[in-house]
Amino acid sequence: MSKQIQIAIDGPAGAGKSTIAKIVAENLGFTYIDTGAMYRAVTYKAINENIELNNAEALESMLLKTVIDLKPSKSGQLVFLDGKDVTNLIRSNEVTANVSQVSAHPNIREILVKKQQELASNGGIVMDGRDIATHVLTEAELKIFMSASVEERAKRRFIDNEKRGIPSNMDTLIQEISLRDKLDSEREASPLVQAEDAIYLDTTELSIEQAADAILKLANEKME
Ligand code: CDP
Ligand code: CDP
Repeated sequence: MSKQIQIAIDGPAGAGKSTIAKIVAENLGFTYIDTGAMYRAVTYKAINENIELNNAEALESMLLKTVIDLKPSKSGQLVFLDGKDVTNLIRSNEVTANVSQVSAHPNIREILVKKQQELASNGGIVMDGRDIATHVLTEAELKIFMSASVEERAKRRFIDNEKRGIPSNMDTLIQEISLRDKLDSEREASPLVQAEDAIYLDTTELSIEQAADAILKLANEKME
């Protein structure tokens, strides 16, 4: 059995984090944890309960009464909110458009980060998000900051939407992605920023396989 290490993957929307993290985890027999799904689940519940997304106290009291479970499955990570499978529901445009507002609240981050650290405590983990290397798993053996040009990331989202039968427009996608990048990188509480000890991986010109291979090579070096 290989050495159990922690791999942290951060970066902006559409960089390829979840797709590539999943492949890396599968190859190494590690657990994959998508932390963005937790922020999405909180946002989904807050919208459904008509909670003001700028009301940090109301969001916190809702979250303290909420159970979010991440369960690995053959088709990827399943997300359960108070026992209900919300894996697909949390990917809606409405959640995507509002999640950065919710994730900017320090009290919400504190609760979710604690849960993420508990989930990672057994080692053998690939975790992706925005602040994994800088705040959640600061001791991770391998830290990757993954990015790609905004045009390429919008193109990937366009193709994803097409496959799901959701009509979209490239200009709007570029605007939405750029706005989320800006909100996530400029917020005060653990913004999206490359950790000093993270390796930068630009996936603009890389296939999924090439990007996964690059990380697997680095991971294998760390596990020797
Ligand atoms: O998959 P996609 O790149 O669209 O985003 P995601 O990973 O599902 O994350 C959704 C949002 O959650 C991000 O835009 C951030 O606002 C927030 N997030 C965060 O603040 N910290 C994390 N560790 C993960 C996500
Ligand atoms: O998690 P994140 O938002 O960083 O990105 P993702 O959801 O993993 O990737 C967005 C889309 O880009 C997916 O459909 C991937 O299959 C695709 N992708 C790609 O075409 N080439 C890459 N090198 C990486 C991802």
